[in-house]
Amino acid sequence: MDEPLIAAARAAADHSYAPYSNFAVGAALRFADGSVVTGANVENASYGLALCAETVAVARAMAQGRRGGLIAVAVTGPGAEPITPCGRCRQILNELAQLGRTDPIILCVGPQETRSTRLSLLLPDAFGPASLD
Ligand code: THU
Repeated sequence: MDEPLIAAARAAADHSYAPYSNFAVGAALRFADGSVVTGANVENASYGLALCAETVAVARAMAQGRRGGLIAVAVTGPGAEPITPCGRCRQILNELAQLGRTDPIILCVGPQETRSTRLSLLLPDAFGPASLD
């Protein structure tokens, strides 16, 4: 279990902007070079425009020029159960993962328990960059 990655996701949640849902989410991406990129959810007065923590993290990473190397993701939420990435975030994560041909570990972190899975299990038969060839 990548405890530093989980700690980074928890710390990222401290900067969540979630005044409408009061549901602070943090995400942390681990890259093959050891580096970590984080994100937190960012909501909007126009509720449907909310950005999830995972999406913010992927956008930050790609804006830094990253195009692969994604080996693990940790997501933390305030609920009683471990949080799993929403459907849209699975697809967003898949884009970066497929670019580098990795199948990242997804750590779904709850207050008591962390569940470890793989992106390919959360999003089987994914549509991605290669599908456009
Ligand atoms: N949220 C995330 O940040 N990631 C997810 O995978 C699920 C949901 C956010 C969106 C919204 O700001 C809040 O959690 C409640 O849905």
